[in-house]
This record gives sequence, structure tokens and C-alpha cells, in this order.
Amino acid sequence: MADKHGRSCCCCLFGILWKILVALIVLVGLVFLIFWLVVQPRSFKFQVTEADLTQFDYYTNNHTLHYNMVLNFTARNPNKKLSIYYDKVEALAFYEDARFANYDVITHMNSFRQYKKSTSPMSAVFSGKKVLMLNSEQVSKLNQDKSDGVYDIYVKLNFRIRFRLGDSISGNLKPKVKCHLKVPFSKSGTFTLFETTKCSVHF
Ligand SMILES: *[C@@H]1O[C@H](CO)[C@@H](O)[C@H](O)[C@H]1NC(C)=O
Ligand SMILES: *[C@@H]1O[C@H](CO)[C@@H](O)[C@H](O)[C@H]1NC(C)=O
Repeated sequence: MADKHGRSCCCCLFGILWKILVALIVLVGLVFLIFWLVVQPRSFKFQVTEADLTQFDYYTNNHTLHYNMVLNFTARNPNKKLSIYYDKVEALAFYEDARFANYDVITHMNSFRQYKKSTSPMSAVFSGKKVLMLNSEQVSKLNQDKSDGVYDIYVKLNFRIRFRLGDSISGNLKPKVKCHLKVPFSKSGTFTLFETTKCSVHF
């Protein structure tokens, strides 16, 4: 009899603990849902607004690409409640899967806080030369682009950002941004039109 009584008390204790656990999970879920609905966190938006390409020459004798390209970007924070700290942004430029340049867009020297509902400019300068082992297919693609006057360039940016809500600041987030660009060659004295290109942002 005593044994039976003890077991049922034990069961009822577990029953209570179980109910508390379920209630806690529901509560946490509810708090999270309310937070989400009130804050409506959204990613920043990123696009390339200008591209100025003045040199893109590949020499097969020494396998060297000589390049000169300036890109202007805008980053937009669409959030109503969150501001964004841009702590670090590194841009990598690729042609036909071959990385030819990188540039530190944002470092500790020019990192900044972007307030809600605002847009900020950034820019990258890729200039120099790089030894690249392009195969014959890639070289003929480059010659094609050269005769078209428009180069298919892929730019990937590695971000390090933090979100701020009121006085609380999130930990580091490292989204990646991908931009597939069609960059017209800028002949001196002629006006070349680059179409503003949206990039995709991946968290
Ligand atoms: C590669 O060769 C081209 C033409 O032959 C030359 O203009 C260029 O300076 C060379 N690049 C390097 C890095 O030596
Ligand atoms: C790109 O941005 C730089 C610096 O913000 C600015 O001086 C330059 O005029 C811009 N270039 C174009 C083509 O808009």
C-alpha cells in the first residue's frame, strides 16, 4: 500500500514538472513570436550602383591579368526598429571562377552604424595585376567579352555586422553577399551605362 502511494506521488511530481516544462516552452515561443512581430527584423539590402572598368587585359605569354575597376555600392537598412553596425566588409572579385582581386571595403578605420530606414554608400577599388592560369575556354570567353565590350564579373562580399535594438547589441553575424555583374568597359570619353544590379544576401 505504502509502495503504491509512493509511486503515484512520484508520478504526480513528474506530471507537474512536465506541465511546467510545456508551459515554459510555450511561453518562450510566445515571447519569441511577439518579439518577431514587434521588431520585424529584416536583412539589409545591397546593390551595385556604379561600375567603372577601365582596364581588363589578359596576357597569355605571362598569364597575367591587368585590371582596374571601381564599384560603388549602396547598403540599405529597411528596419523600423533595428540599426546595423557594419564592422567589416571584404570584397572578392572573380572572372570565370578565378579570383583576381580583393579589397577591404569596410575595416575598423571606416566601420559605421547605420540607423533605421537609411541608405549608405560603400565603394571598392580593384586595381593591379594578377597571375591567373586561365584555360583556353576561359580565354575565349574573355575575348568574347572584350569584343562585346561587357564583362561578366562576379563579386562576393563577406560581411561582419551586428544589429542593435535600443541599447542591446547582437553578437557578430557573417552574411555573404553575391553580385553577378555585367560590367561595360569604359572607353575614355564615352559614356557607358551600367545598370544598377541587386545582390543577394545570405545569412
Ligand atoms: C605581361 O606581358 C604583357 C605584354 O607582353 C606586358 O605588357 C605586361 O607588363 C606583362 N605583365 C607582367 C606582370 O610582367
Ligand atoms: C563612387 O563613389 C565615390 C566615393 O563615394 C565617388 O567619389 C564617385 O563619384 C562615385 N562614382 C560614380 C561613378 O558614381
